[in-house]
This record gives sequence, C-alpha cells and structure tokens, in this order.
Amino acid sequence: MAARVLACASCHGAEGEGTSDVYFPRLAGKPAGYLYNQLIAFRDGRRRYPPMNYLLEFLPDAYLQKMADHFAALRPPFPAPNIPTDSKEILARGETLVKEGDARSGVPACSACHGPALGGMEPAIPGLLGLRASYISAQLGGWRYGTRTAAAPDCMQIVAGLLSEDDVKAVAAYLSSRPAPNDPSFAPRGSLPMPLECGSQPR
Ligand code: HEC
Ligand code: HEC
Repeated sequence: MAARVLACASCHGAEGEGTSDVYFPRLAGKPAGYLYNQLIAFRDGRRRYPPMNYLLEFLPDAYLQKMADHFAALRPPFPAPNIPTDSKEILARGETLVKEGDARSGVPACSACHGPALGGMEPAIPGLLGLRASYISAQLGGWRYGTRTAAAPDCMQIVAGLLSEDDVKAVAAYLSSRPAPNDPSFAPRGSLPMPLECGSQPR
C-alpha cells in the first residue's frame, strides 16, 4: 500500500500529513469510515475535485477501503496552528457557533456531532482540528453549492446552508487557530447527541 499511495504524496504528503498548499487536506489519523466515504464520493462524482475524481475512477470498493485504513492508521505530527489575523470579534463568533450554535438562525453546535474536543466520532465523523481556514471554508462552500455531497440525509448540507458568509469565515478562522491534539481521539459511536440525522453516520 505504501507504494500505491505514492500517487497521493505530492498533494497529501508522504504520511498523509498535508503539504504547504493550504487547500490540500491532511488525511492521516482521520476515522477510516470517514476517509472511505470520501474516496467513494470522489470515485462516484458525489464530491468533485477533478484530479481526485480521475485518480480514483474505476477503483473497487475493497481497494478504497485499504487506502482509507492506511491513512487512518498514520500519526505524523500536526502542523502548528494558524496565527489568526482575524479580529477578536470574528474569532469569538466562530467559537460560539462551534460550541453552542446559533438558536436564532437554527445552526446546531458543531461540537454536537464533531465532539466537545472536536476530535470527531467513530466511524465516520471527522475531527475539525488541524485543518486550514481556506480548506474549511471551501468545504462548507462545496456543500452550499452542491459540489460536495454526502449520503442522504446530508446533514452537513443543511448545516452549511444555515451559515451566512460571515459565519463561514468565523468558524474557519476559529477552528484553524486552535491547537490540534497530538493524537486524535474519536468519541465512541453513538456517544454524541447529533441534532440532525446524517446518512453517512449510523447512530
Ligand atoms: C493533485 C492533488 C491531489 C492528489 C494527487 C490526490 N489528492 Fe486527495 N485531495 C486533493 C484535494 C485538493 C482535496 C480536497 C478536495 C475538495 O475540495 O473536496 C482532496 C481530498 C481528499 C480526501 C478527503 C479528505 C477529507 O478530509 O475530506 C481524501 C480521503 C483523499 N483526498 C485521498 C487521496 C488519495 C488516497 C490519493 C491518492 C490515490 C489522493 N487523494 C491524491 C488533492 C489531491
Ligand atoms: C448533525 C451532525 C453534524 C453537525 C451538527 C455538524 N457536522 Fe460537520 N460533519 C458531519 C458529518 C457526518 C461529516 C462527514 C460528511 C461526509 O462524509 O462528507 C461532517 C464533515 C464536516 C467537515 C469536513 C471535514 C473535512 O475534513 O473535509 C467540515 C469542515 C465540517 N463538518 C464542519 C462543521 C461545522 C463548522 C459545523 C458547525 C457549524 C458542523 N460541521 C456541524 C456532521 C455534523
């Protein structure tokens, strides 16, 4: 598998740690079920990014599962957190959305599914730390504009649709400014309230 994933290294790093390109995400240590769902989504065109769609075209499920297991098991160090250039108000707004949500606009707390420590939940909810602001806002944009979709009901499409442009900026700034844990720890399956159903995450 190490030889087979060389094709991924130029964008995701040799250990799946990410590269200096702020748009190329870290893969290492994310829940295997989550990574597998993403590989299937790229292969089947439910999540669009042409170089990835092309690379994974025609690969069988079992092979994608092996790639997912490979990256899930790696533990390269996290990058240093982003030094925020955004105002205190923007960061505070981001923190409120992440920890409490916004009752007025109906945004649920991100932590209700991604975990109080934002480490994610087994088997298929990713952590939100160690991601860069431009990647986070691009993903939320992908859900809003339909270039990223997950299995129905697609809870993240609903969440992203409730966020304003300013909210997206605030959560991306706040999340990317947080120090990442050295070892990601997932919440056990079924242990978080999950205010919406997610087709990709069995309860
Ligand atoms: C040309 C650069 C490039 C190459 C090569 C590449 N990727 Fe990616 N990959 C990306 C980008 C950019 C994204 C984010 C795309 C988006 O916006 O949805 C991504 C996303 C992903 C994700 C989803 C990550 C997440 O947190 O949701 C997985 C899993 C992944 N790639 C696996 C792989 C594997 C496995 C390979 C090798 C077979 C590979 N990639 C090769 C650029 C690349
Ligand atoms: C109801 C549960 C739920 C809530 C609430 C929720 N998420 Fe998610 N989130 C998910 C699931 C499930 C996924 C994986 C979707 C997939 O497989 O593509 C996900 C994925 C993501 C990703 C993709 C990470 C990556 O590596 O590409 C981001 C970014 C994200 N969520 C941000 C947020 C933010 C910000 C909030 C709060 C405003 C939030 N989420 C609230 C369930 C939730």
